[in-house]
Amino acid sequence: MNHPETPTGSQKPAPLNMSEAAEAVRTQFAADHARVAANPSPKAVEELRLAFLGRKGRVQDLIEGLRNVAKEQRPEAGKIVNSVRQDVDGAVTALQERAKAWILNERLNIPQVDVSLPVDDSTPAGALHPVSLMRRVLIREFRRLGFTIYDGPEIDFDFYNFSALNIPESHPARDMQDTFYVAPATGGAFDGQKMLLRTQTSNIQIHAMLAEKPPLRVIAPGRVFRCDSDITHTPMFHQIEGFVVDKGVTFANLKATIDTFLKAIYGRELKTRFRPSFFPFVEPGAEFDVQCTICSGAGCRVCKNTGWLEVGGCGMIHPKVFEAVGYDSEEYSGFAFGFGIDRMAMLKYALPDLRQLFEGDHDFLGQFPVHA
Ligand code: DAH
Repeated sequence: MNHPETPTGSQKPAPLNMSEAAEAVRTQFAADHARVAANPSPKAVEELRLAFLGRKGRVQDLIEGLRNVAKEQRPEAGKIVNSVRQDVDGAVTALQERAKAWILNERLNIPQVDVSLPVDDSTPAGALHPVSLMRRVLIREFRRLGFTIYDGPEIDFDFYNFSALNIPESHPARDMQDTFYVAPATGGAFDGQKMLLRTQTSNIQIHAMLAEKPPLRVIAPGRVFRCDSDITHTPMFHQIEGFVVDKGVTFANLKATIDTFLKAIYGRELKTRFRPSFFPFVEPGAEFDVQCTICSGAGCRVCKNTGWLEVGGCGMIHPKVFEAVGYDSEEYSGFAFGFGIDRMAMLKYALPDLRQLFEGDHDFLGQFPVHA
């Protein structure tokens, strides 16, 4: 009995036909593939795919052609067709990958940025707080004048904040109303000593002078605390202290230094002036003013019609201070100055209210630049 799968001698071996047909598809595909591969745009790749693998494509034709192949030859023919389908499929998939790169390349080749378009500033950028901004500007200017920066404690011994600065026990600045005292020190060499939140950055004078030998040229920015709060006072504010100790330092050096930095910050045109004043740790002492930054000296509401704005205090370092730190006041002389950074910022950026600096209002703070 003839097995149904056994080829009959009269039939033309179909695999030969199929392999010819398959070979024809391969040749055609190779030609089309070469053309598309030279410029594999997504459109060209898709057309190639449809032409060969689509429902009416050439590979599909081959598959359908299998129906006409005698059953017993079908497995062999099927293998041939399948191998064509796999090869075409693999080549098309590879081209699809290249098409992705082709899209990217196209994009990269087109100029993407139109510099004439308005800037999208909807992304919030950070800004420096005006006090930070002012501090950075001050530090930069004093660096130019050869000053180094010194840091020191905000919680300090009475000695550094007061007694070494020639502020005696009975001085009103020590009054509980002005000073935040904290619990006295316990244990060690400082046991029982009064401690406080520093009321002024002048404490750094003592720390620096005890740690270093003259000559010294120091600035010390920092936070200070006073038990005081109203329209023009906040319990915490910022000061910057500066001092110079060397042989032969004079009041003229002090004036020149203050004049130089005030002009650097507020502009060459504005005048500066000194008025005699008293601070226990300097002799002689003075306060320094700058011509009103709002009205340039003509008189306005901000300067209360005086044409001048008070900036800070200064003077020649008192011999008692030198004595407290063990410097010889016969050999060395020096000057010191101190002023509020917040106030400097108010004058520089024409702020109407000191409290704006401490409220953290984003709209207000966002107006300031990111860099000093
Ligand atoms: N420490 C003073 C204050 O807080 C400011 C001051 C005045 C500092 C005169 C000085 C100075 O160095 O010489 O009011």
